[in-house]
Amino acid sequence: MKGKDLISVADLDVGDVRRLLERAQAMKMGEEGGAPLTGRTLALLFEKPSLRTRVSFDVAMYQLGGHAIYLSDAEVGLGRREPIADVARTIGRYVDGITARTFAQATVEELARHATIPVINALSDAEHPCQALGDLLTIYEKKGRLTGLTLAFVGDGNNVAHSLMLACALAGMHFRIASPHGYLVGDDFRRKAKALATASGGSILCTKDPVAAVRGADVVYTDVWTSMGQEAEAVERRRVFTPYQVTQELLSQAGPEAILMHPLPAHPGEELAPGLIDSPQSVVFDQAENRLHIQKAILAELLGR
Ligand code: CP
Ligand code: NVA
Repeated sequence: MKGKDLISVADLDVGDVRRLLERAQAMKMGEEGGAPLTGRTLALLFEKPSLRTRVSFDVAMYQLGGHAIYLSDAEVGLGRREPIADVARTIGRYVDGITARTFAQATVEELARHATIPVINALSDAEHPCQALGDLLTIYEKKGRLTGLTLAFVGDGNNVAHSLMLACALAGMHFRIASPHGYLVGDDFRRKAKALATASGGSILCTKDPVAAVRGADVVYTDVWTSMGQEAEAVERRRVFTPYQVTQELLSQAGPEAILMHPLPAHPGEELAPGLIDSPQSVVFDQAENRLHIQKAILAELLGR
């Protein structure tokens, strides 16, 4: 990997993604054992709540022979109790890596700039790279390939959409996203993804029409309408996104073997019709499991150097 950190999917090239997926699969199958991070410690610096990310990083460190320390925002107060730069410079004297879940992308970037140790983005307002990489692993397992597949994202052009769009573009996939006016993916992300897709043989399509996005797709993906930090907009978002609910009817527009994905936590009755999480097409819990395997590969790469 180019740098010491994983802040954005754009920090990776095609070779990095391939290696991480192969290593995650080997770890999952028990083909790569051992304890490459014996004696290493990871700080989990979280400004927002988490189930999957927190538990899977903690377990990943344990399984790799290392140790994790969870630090809540109430304890650390990034930028409030003390400057972000000082937190980065202090914590680097004790631990070997930082996994940070922050409100602002600028905060995780600032941590990475001032820390001498690797910093991993565990979700910010702009990206969720560990989720996107785990999702590629899940799609690869379910479909046996990535190149040439079509993924349709229905909903908010949010952090999860940004990272997934970049990841699909790197993998030579066709990424389509249906979002209402005012909730599109960021222009910068779209430009970056288009450049990556041009190089990989993939493509990027942004539309307002969920059916146009989903038609014939191999993967249908959705995420919450209101992300952490946007709670004040929840009522307006529910109104705007109602036509973007993934229903059985919308899913039936996808390819016959299409899988349904969601990073979780899900809000049944909002972005997913009630019960759809239990449909035979849903792979959401395998998807959640793969966060562990991909993060073990990421940690072994970044902290095991
Ligand atoms: N998908 C995901 O990141 O879940 P958590 O917010 O529970 O970590
Ligand atoms: N977009 C969601 C993802 C949660 C894993 C959020 O940021 O809250």
